Amino acid sequence: MAIQVGDKLPSVTFKVMGENGPESVTTDDLFAGKKVVLFAVPGAFTPGCTITHLPGFVVNADKIKAKGVDSIVCLAVNDAFVMDAWGKSQNAEEIIMLADGSAVFTKEIGLEKDLTEGGLGIRSQRYAMIVNDGTVELLNVDDKGVDKSSAETILAAL
Ligand code: BEZ
Repeated sequence: MAIQVGDKLPSVTFKVMGENGPESVTTDDLFAGKKVVLFAVPGAFTPGCTITHLPGFVVNADKIKAKGVDSIVCLAVNDAFVMDAWGKSQNAEEIIMLADGSAVFTKEIGLEKDLTEGGLGIRSQRYAMIVNDGTVELLNVDDKGVDKSSAETILAAL
């Protein structure tokens, strides 16, 4: 069953790109004592994620943070090298590009998606969360397109 509003995020270790290569970062590092907007995409550099989803958060990052959000995190089941390159290509300096490369977090929260037929393997569903001190306060999952998980929808919900 997928994670629900009111649940705590599971304790896992992700990767982010550091100055000298990929670095480990834990759920606690990212979420403890903070208000965080986390959005997840099926794939870095894929059209919907690159043309619509990530740019929406880049453009609205300041407005989202002005609502008391400490950080905005973009997660995909991709490695830290890919997430870093994608973020740089989209001028996403305000956004933490988080690699869940082996889908450990994504599977634990029950929001994986099997895109094997399309050649992508196990990926994340498209969703956005508002997370307060590690607890899910809002969870919007999109079946198709970028709608409930868009930056504009999350901004309106904050
Ligand atoms: C997209 O456009 O966002 C997309 C395309 C193929 C697979 C997954 C996502």
